Amino acid sequence: MTQNTAPAAEAANAPTRTAHHRRYLMCRPEHFTVSYTINPWMEPANPTDTAVAMRQWQDLHDTYRSLGHEIELIDPIEGLPDMVYTANGGFLIDGIAYGPKFRFAERAGEAAPFIDWFRAAGFDTREPVEVNEGEGDFLLVGEVILAGTGFRSTGDSHREIGEVFGREVVSLTLSDPRFYHLDTALAVLDPVEGIANGGPERANIAYLPSAFDERSQAVLAERYPDAIHVSDEDGAVFGLNSASDGRNVIISPRAKGFEKQLRDRGYNPILVDLSELLLGGGGIKCCTLELRGAGS
Ligand code: ARG
Repeated sequence: MTQNTAPAAEAANAPTRTAHHRRYLMCRPEHFTVSYTINPWMEPANPTDTAVAMRQWQDLHDTYRSLGHEIELIDPIEGLPDMVYTANGGFLIDGIAYGPKFRFAERAGEAAPFIDWFRAAGFDTREPVEVNEGEGDFLLVGEVILAGTGFRSTGDSHREIGEVFGREVVSLTLSDPRFYHLDTALAVLDPVEGIANGGPERANIAYLPSAFDERSQAVLAERYPDAIHVSDEDGAVFGLNSASDGRNVIISPRAKGFEKQLRDRGYNPILVDLSELLLGGGGIKCCTLELRGAGS
C-alpha cells in the first residue's frame, strides 16, 4: 500500500471530510484466473498470476483494516474465478440483502453461495426475479439508488430493487463496453447528504461522463452539479472503481488526475494497485461489497 500521509485538506476552502465505519464482504482470489471472456478486459490468452492477485488483494484487505473497517469473508469456490468481485454478489441496505442474478452462465453459480451467506449472516434476504449484478450496478447516494443498465443489470431489475427497498431509483444507461458496470464509471465519495464544513454540500460523486448515454449525462449533471468529472485517461485505468468511507478514498495509483481532484476536494486518496485483478475487468470497488445494516 502506498499510504499518503499528506494532510487531506491541503487545498484552501476544501471541506473537512469525515470517515465513516464500513463493513465489507470480500473473497480471497484463490481460484482467480481468466478462462472466459464476458467483458472487453478479459483475454484468456494472457497469463494471470494467482499469487500476485492474492498479494494485491491482501493489500486492499489490510488497507481497509488499517482504516478501522470490518471485513467479512465468503469462501472462494473452485471453478468460479470471478467470485473475488464480491460487489456483484448483492446489494444491501438496512439489513435487507437483495441477491444477484448474473447475466452470463459463467457466473451463475455464484448467486446461491452469496444468497446463502447473507442468510447465514442474519440478513433479511430477498431472491431476485430479474437479472442484476448487485453493487456493480447499484450505488446508494444519500437516499437514492443509482442503477446502471446497458450491459448487465436489466431495466426490470431497477423496478424490482425499488420495490424491495422502497426507495427512489435513478436509471442510468452505460454506453461504452469497457465500463459495463456502473461502479466502473461512477464512484460515490460521500453518501451522506448534509452539511460539510459549515456549508451545505450535496452528496458527492465522481464519474466519467463519456461512459453514459446523453440522457444519463443530463440526469447526472442536473442532480450532481458539484460532481467530479474524471478524465477519459483516469477512467480507462479504472480510477472510478474505488471505495470511499467519506474521507479516505482507495483508488488505483494510475489515476493521477483523479488523485489530485480528490485532494483538492478535501478527500484523502490512498493508492492500492490491483493490476492483476484488472485482467478480469475488475478493480478495488469490484472486490468490495458493502454490508449495510443488521446481520450478525
Ligand atoms: N470478470 C467479472 C465480470 O465480467 C468482473 C466483475 C467486475 N465487477 C464490478 N463490480 N465491476 O463479471
